[in-house]
Amino acid sequence: MTLPAIDPLAITSSSDIEILLSHCDGPLCWEHVFGNRYPVEIEIGSGKGKFIIRSAHAHPDKNFLGIERAGKFYRILKERALRAGISNIRIVRCDAAYFLRKYIPAASVHAYHIYFPDPWPKKRHHKRRLVTQEFIALLSETLMPGGHLFFATDFREYFEIITMHARACPTIQEILCTTILPGTVDPEQAPTNYERKYLMQGREIYKAAYIKRLSP
Ligand SMILES: C[S@@+](CC[C@H](N)C(=O)[O-])C[C@H]1O[C@@H](n2cnc3c(N)ncnc32)[C@H](O)[C@@H]1O
Repeated sequence: MTLPAIDPLAITSSSDIEILLSHCDGPLCWEHVFGNRYPVEIEIGSGKGKFIIRSAHAHPDKNFLGIERAGKFYRILKERALRAGISNIRIVRCDAAYFLRKYIPAASVHAYHIYFPDPWPKKRHHKRRLVTQEFIALLSETLMPGGHLFFATDFREYFEIITMHARACPTIQEILCTTILPGTVDPEQAPTNYERKYLMQGREIYKAAYIKRLSP
């Protein structure tokens, strides 16, 4: 049975869209979180929310969750998501690795979007990077079979490491690995704020996508 989606006109306060960890004690029930059984897509590091808010608008038959750790971006994300008044978006302020480990049920997510994860270019800061072999394993465990994983970055060395880890993960398969050259696309059509910013600066953008295998 599909539960009715929340009435968009009723989205008036942050309690309608915010997942508060103080109210959660283990893996979430998506039907409870969104009020329906539509597929769930998660963006990690939503920043100011351009991608997730546009996606939620464009796909009312899907649910979107944005995970953002930084308070200053999270406040903007929350304000914009509230102003958008859409019923299929939820946000949470949390470290993504912690949130996935503790609150995302296994094999329950239809897609992950990770766009321009902080590259931490200095070698001594590499340990702060979000996307590691363990993190990719966590993404794969929580993706449903046939689900997708999307990455984009302007930082070539980090991209090579991400794709190396992803290719070493036996439960996902690469379906896209490409470079977008500046001047070949309109920055104004970029899906995220950082992609627009870097295209305008004339930087190359590296993208990869993976599908969760149907059987191990
Ligand atoms: C470079 S910005 C990219 C923002 C957006 N995805 C875009 O493309 O415009 C990276 C974002 O990821 C967030 N972030 C970094 N590490 C995170 C983590 N461990 N968990 C959740 N968010 C994180 C940062 O706070 C920041 O908003």
